[in-house]
Amino acid sequence: MLYSKKLIYLMLLLIFNGLLFALSCSDDEVKFTGIIKNNVYVKGSDEMAAMGEIIFSKKCLSCHSLDVNFKGPELGDVVKRRKAEWILNMIINPEEMISKDADAKYLFLTHAVKMVLKNVSEDDAKAVLEYLKFVNNSKKII
Ligand code: HEC
Repeated sequence: MLYSKKLIYLMLLLIFNGLLFALSCSDDEVKFTGIIKNNVYVKGSDEMAAMGEIIFSKKCLSCHSLDVNFKGPELGDVVKRRKAEWILNMIINPEEMISKDADAKYLFLTHAVKMVLKNVSEDDAKAVLEYLKFVNNSKKII
């Protein structure tokens, strides 16, 4: 009898620890600065990538190239360096990222220019990300 009580106690302890572990894991997932959290990004289409190329030319090319560190870092392989959510948040709200995110802060400190970008919608940011993924996969250089 005593033995089975101990067993039940142990099992409860295990379940409790499991729950704690699960909770701490889900906490980990919500660590991105900005409105895009983990797992929000869904793979887009070729049309999205084409739209992203147009937005990139209009809004990013003045500071970024794909292969050379210019006013801002080269972006041809940025999808290898950063997670999708991080990139989206940087495009949607660089101001917030630079003030709160350690990596963005470091980039700001090591570049003479501050990334200023306003009114890029979530959809446009996703299109640009799709384009950057395409560039990375095809090694396309403008
Ligand atoms: C006014 C210049 C400017 C414009 C316009 C601009 N950026 Fe930036 N970007 C920067 C700078 C400078 C940094 C480095 C952080 C800093 O100093 O603010 C940066 C950093 C980044 C990073 C992080 C790069 C890395 O190595 O992790 C990404 C991603 C990025 N920009 C994407 C974009 C995209 C996409 C656009 C267009 C929608 C854009 N930026 C428009 C200047 C700019």
